[in-house]
Amino acid sequence: MRAPTAAELQLYALAEAAIGNAYAPYSRFPVSAALQPADGAEPIIGVNVENASYGVTMCAERSALFAAVAMGIRRFETVAVHAEATSCPPCGACRQLLWEYCGNITVHVHSLQGMSTEYKLSELLPNPFDDHNLKA
Ligand code: THU
Repeated sequence: MRAPTAAELQLYALAEAAIGNAYAPYSRFPVSAALQPADGAEPIIGVNVENASYGVTMCAERSALFAAVAMGIRRFETVAVHAEATSCPPCGACRQLLWEYCGNITVHVHSLQGMSTEYKLSELLPNPFDDHNLKA
């Protein structure tokens, strides 16, 4: 583990600032994410968006990713994930989606308790299924 850079701290701050936009009345587990594009463009923010039909809930990381793709951004460097209560490493579904679009990016997981952990996505999703597996 190493101290976060100023850019990483800034990304984390952007995620943290958006936590109030999370819609999590069912789990009471608000999550926010800031996804940094590779070209230095402004980070894209996502929050978890829950629903009375629990299964259609969308995670913060995927909200950010889908918003970025809709904006035409497809190359990324880093994602910072922030949760209100404790740390929130990306769930399995988010790892799979992040791998498809972001490749082996750095994932920063933060919490209000001051914990900050950095991973490469390949650590979180070893032996991923991707387009290589679809080729004969
Ligand atoms: N959640 C995320 O937003 N990201 C994750 O990687 C894990 C879980 C959300 C989904 C749900 O709204 C709440 O956290 C509790 O699972």
